[in-house]
Order: sequence, then C-alpha cells, then structure tokens
Amino acid sequence: MKMNDDLAKLFNDQITMELASSVAYLQMAAHLETEGLSGMGTWMRIQSDEEHAHALRFLQFTLDRDNEVAIGAMAAPPRPTGTVADVFDAALAQEQKVTASISSLYSAAQSGADVLALPFLQEFLTEQVEEEAAVGEIIDRLRLAGDDGPSLLQLDRELGSRTPEAG
Ligand SMILES: [Fe+2]
Ligand SMILES: [Fe+2]
Repeated sequence: MKMNDDLAKLFNDQITMELASSVAYLQMAAHLETEGLSGMGTWMRIQSDEEHAHALRFLQFTLDRDNEVAIGAMAAPPRPTGTVADVFDAALAQEQKVTASISSLYSAAQSGADVLALPFLQEFLTEQVEEEAAVGEIIDRLRLAGDDGPSLLQLDRELGSRTPEAG
C-alpha cells in the first residue's frame, strides 16, 4: 500500500540524508587517516558503510510501498577541522540531526496513521539512541586523553579493531 505523498517525500529526504551522512563520515575517515590515526579512520569508514546501508533500507522500504524514489541534491561534505575530539563532536552533531529527522518522520507517519511505517522507523530510532551513546563515549574518552599521545594511540588501536556489524 502506497504511503501518502507527504510521507513519501520525507522518506526520500531521509534517503538523501543517510547518503550525505555516509559521505561526511568518509571525509572524516580520510581526514583522520591523514593525521596518522588509521584506527579511527577504519571506525569512520565502517560508520560510512552503515549509513550507506541505512540509505538502502529507506530506499527499499519506499520501493516496497510502491512509492517513487528520487534522490535529492547533496552539498559537499563539511571539511573536518580542529582536534580529533572536534571531529567526533561533528559526528555526534550529525547523528543528532539524523535522530531529529527520523523523529519527525515518525510523527508524520503517526499523523497519517501509517501503521506500516511505524515499526520500520522505530527500529531506526532505537539504533539512533545506540549510535549517539557510542559516539558520546568516544568523545568522553578523547577528552580524558587530551593531548596525551600514548592515550590517543591506544584509543586509535581500539577503534581500529571495529568490525562491520553482521546483517
Ligand atoms: Fe543512519
Ligand atoms: Fe548513524
């Protein structure tokens, strides 16, 4: 059953946002790798792949609902600047933007009484809570490490051991 036009438009916007988010993480990965932090680069690349996978899930849901997909225009990703903590702060801000966007999608699905879209969106909202918490924890540890090289390298090694999630 088709989504109403307003909801379908919001789903399309979300596809675009997840793709832009994927590109932004790739830019952050490249920046961190340039700084010699290849472990954090690996973490950001996996993050980038996950955002791409999210975009594909929104795209598939839109197609499955028999709505049209039209990916929107995307600006160039922001150029990461400042300290490593600043880069992860930017990542957190981006996740918060995505959470807000999926929350309003959820509200729109509720007002349109689109009960088919609600469980799909609920899964993403739950995941956003986890993602924000994960990035927040990294930021806390970066603040603790401060300018201490060995602590930063230790955290870099740890983040570099991240593996893509199954499924
Ligand atoms: Fe996402
Ligand atoms: Fe995310």
